[in-house]
Amino acid sequence: MHPAAIEAMVVELGRTGNASSLHDAGRAARRVVEESRELLAARLGARPSEVILTAGGTEADNLAVKGIFWARRAERSDRTRVLVSAVEHHAVLDPAAWLAEHEGAEVVLLPVDRSGCVELGALQAELAAHGDRTALLSLMWANNEVGTVQPVHEAVELAHAAGVPVHVDAVQAVGQLEVEFAALGADAMTVSGHKLGGPVGVGALVARRDVPLVPVLHGGGQERGVRSGTVDVASARAFAVAVDHAVTERPAFAARVASLRDELVAGIVRAVPDALPQGAGVAGRGGERLPANAHVVFPGCEGDSLLFLLDSHGVRCSTGSACRAGVPQPSHVLLACGVPAQEARGALRLSLGRTTSRADVERVVGVIAEVVERARAAG
Ligand SMILES: Cc1ncc(COP(=O)(O)O)c(C=O)c1O
Repeated sequence: MHPAAIEAMVVELGRTGNASSLHDAGRAARRVVEESRELLAARLGARPSEVILTAGGTEADNLAVKGIFWARRAERSDRTRVLVSAVEHHAVLDPAAWLAEHEGAEVVLLPVDRSGCVELGALQAELAAHGDRTALLSLMWANNEVGTVQPVHEAVELAHAAGVPVHVDAVQAVGQLEVEFAALGADAMTVSGHKLGGPVGVGALVARRDVPLVPVLHGGGQERGVRSGTVDVASARAFAVAVDHAVTERPAFAARVASLRDELVAGIVRAVPDALPQGAGVAGRGGERLPANAHVVFPGCEGDSLLFLLDSHGVRCSTGSACRAGVPQPSHVLLACGVPAQEARGALRLSLGRTTSRADVERVVGVIAEVVERARAAG
């Protein structure tokens, strides 16, 4: 967490007061929540009344996908199509799959190109053929595994021309890219605290007042009646402070980590010449990628072996793949990009952050050849 966010959180944890209570402590807590909401809105290019606080990105994604689906289908019973890109986070893919299983939704996985960028032609064709029966489009701003930035502005324009509301998962984008909700024109946008220096377990769905939204959680009617539950004042405050820092420090942060990231990828490829960098803006592929993300496939190894060997060198990274019944599965993102399943098993995602230094990059580059050799020997 950003030190300023920790400090803000600790101050609020030392206070009492339910933000819905009418006594002075409650009113003071409400003031903190509303000031936090104003700060979040200002930094995200939204109105305070558009910020719905949630317990993280997963909850905000569920509220958007299910909430918009239910509301749009209630307006017209045959509006059952849900468009998502094939590389969405599971926090979007799984609610969509749940709607298919339990609510009769028809989920359309929009294809992506080799870099993970959604095919706008496929979106256009889908909207032309079935726009009137489409409940929503959900498209991430940037991919959490391969770092590819999606053409969200163009997608919003296409969907709106067909009368289809758009949800954008901006969890990876805030703090790395310029994010302006009003300028984007989307109907709803997800943000998460722990990806940008805030606490885990807090986030927001930024949603226009006119977007139809059925609540997922029912109870005390907090947060415009769409997200019941006592507001977590300390987390809201720390989240707002973190977003404030992430957005104002973004240009300098992005420039610094992008340059370190480029050194990291170049160093890895020098040390392991058959390593395959993934996503946009590498290996001759065009497009834009997140400045703090590096993703490399090492053919002939298991990502998990790489992960544990690197961990023993003090390097904490991720494979990006899920584990089902104890068996590692190749990432759905890499498969959608057209990476062969066997190759996708050797995937490694390295993320840089506020405290990442050149020495960290040198450490990875210094050990990667030996780590890959050992992982390959392990099979
Ligand atoms: C793109 C994306 N969406 C959603 C989430 C889920 O957010 P949270 O961890 O706050 O539930 C993540 C987290 O990794 C993410 O990367």
